[in-house]
Amino acid sequence: MTALPLIHDQVRACTRCELARTRTRAVPGEGPADAEVMFIGEGPGFNEDQQGRPFVGQAGKLLDQLIELAGLRRQDVFITNIVKCRPPGNRDPLPNEIEACSGYLTGQLETIAPRIVVTLGRYSMARFFPGQTISRIHGHSEVIGNVTYMAMYHPAAALRQQALRQAIEADFRKLGEIIAALGEPGEAESAPKPTAQTEQLRLM
Ligand code: URA
Ligand code: SF4
Repeated sequence: MTALPLIHDQVRACTRCELARTRTRAVPGEGPADAEVMFIGEGPGFNEDQQGRPFVGQAGKLLDQLIELAGLRRQDVFITNIVKCRPPGNRDPLPNEIEACSGYLTGQLETIAPRIVVTLGRYSMARFFPGQTISRIHGHSEVIGNVTYMAMYHPAAALRQQALRQAIEADFRKLGEIIAALGEPGEAESAPKPTAQTEQLRLM
């Protein structure tokens, strides 16, 4: 298995798609290598491209608040994107770019092995919930093997539309409940369910 720093070095040097030519900095993602929860956005925007870090602009500020609503702390979760380099002018990532970049996300998923994967927006949703629409499945979760997958609206969309803001807040509260109900890895099903607050401490 490839260690996370090695994957991230490969991303920073990557020229597998056209986005390499216009990026300032690649944005591999950040968070602990043993994070329990992984968030996957769309692609870096202006600020992320400048700083080489995911979700540091306006959408990132909202994501920070939402992460707290779920009883989590940003420093405990892993945050990345479906493409690691900024599409020029914040255009949507193209299918060939998503495909070219896909192996890095696969490597991150294998190495980090999160218990919960949260998709933010349509492009990351499409990888785990193919053929679905975000308006239909936002806030729904699906358990496959040991991993719970949950689709959310993109925080940037929630900044533009008040109705989506309320939906995404409710969905993140639900995420907190799901995390609390999961308990410790390997914990017996019958064990008392921890609250979001106690689970937050356990996830550290
Ligand atoms: N939007 C995204 O999808 N990803 C980021 O990292 C920032 C904004
Ligand atoms: Fe490589 Fe992904 Fe960046 Fe394209 S977006 S250059 S595949 S790291």
